[in-house]
Amino acid sequence: KKGGFEHYMLKEIYEQPEVFYNTMKALETDGRLPMLRIPAEITVVACGTSYHAALVFRYLAQEYTSKRVSVEFASEFKYYTPPLRDMVIAVTQSGETADTLTAIEKAKARNCSTLAVTNVLGSTVSRSADWTVFMCAGPEISVAATKSFTGQLAVFMGMVNVMADGKFTDVLGHAHRSIERVLPQEMGAAVSLLLGATEMFYVGRGVFYPVALEGALKMKEISYIHAEGYAAGELKHGPFALLSPETPVVAICTPGRTYGVMLSNVKEMKARGAPVIGIGVEGDTEVESIVDVFIPVPEDHQMVQALTVSVILQLLAYQTAKALERDIDKPRNLAKSVTVE
Ligand code: F6R
Repeated sequence: KKGGFEHYMLKEIYEQPEVFYNTMKALETDGRLPMLRIPAEITVVACGTSYHAALVFRYLAQEYTSKRVSVEFASEFKYYTPPLRDMVIAVTQSGETADTLTAIEKAKARNCSTLAVTNVLGSTVSRSADWTVFMCAGPEISVAATKSFTGQLAVFMGMVNVMADGKFTDVLGHAHRSIERVLPQEMGAAVSLLLGATEMFYVGRGVFYPVALEGALKMKEISYIHAEGYAAGELKHGPFALLSPETPVVAICTPGRTYGVMLSNVKEMKARGAPVIGIGVEGDTEVESIVDVFIPVPEDHQMVQALTVSVILQLLAYQTAKALERDIDKPRNLAKSVTVE
């Protein structure tokens, strides 16, 4: 059943190149995305991992399109509904998350057009929204979402590509190969560095901030290490007080506008004694020389790097939880689908 893998989570992590490729292809053949006439203002509602995918979308839309995207927790949106314009998108793997379903009803009551992004044909959300776009992740058994996150990113990146008049077609066309390349990444040294820790941080900037949030969520839910994701610049505004040799930090230091400032941030964290696992592009000796453990990803467009770094962080959480002998596919206290408020 697990296709030779020890856990469903690992099997699903390994399915991600295919999920990304299939979802992109399905969007192309479906052909409805361009017809959707994505309006100027979009609100996205979601919970958990799906919320993090929506935050990635917000950063990408802001950088590459003229659309304004706001992202709300479905559980807050229900009681504290912001002013709404144009379109509300509900992102939900299961299509059954109670808060997300209520949010879409609320949007309909406000006369917004509604779009569901989901993994389950015939799910409640797809019957409720005006439009549905399916991610082609296939059934996700592991409680911790992995391939559905990649499926959601494929849909959102496909939308960004449509909004940017197809500018990213080539970039997205080879993304599955880059995901494939990071799957065999060796994690031993990084896992060893985390094994004694009870708390840790993940930091990134821009699109890598929600990637850091998602990395931290994966780590807490399956390893039970208290992991917090932060926008790297925010660490100085309080959390620095927690840094010590006992609080490892995972820092995403990929090239781009904020590369230099990330490097300074890492040096400041090191100066406070924190062990740092740095993620950077292959051959980046500058990052490698200032961190304790370096994990490389292929050099690529930042959209693709958002995918490859996410996969690396899933693997890191998985390998750590495995070393700690946790119940990886069924973490304590959690259910796959949260159908109550
Ligand atoms: C985390 C995880 C949850 C879900 C959340 C929303 O690994 O799986 O955070 O992402 O419960 O679920 P869906 O996407 O089904 O609405």
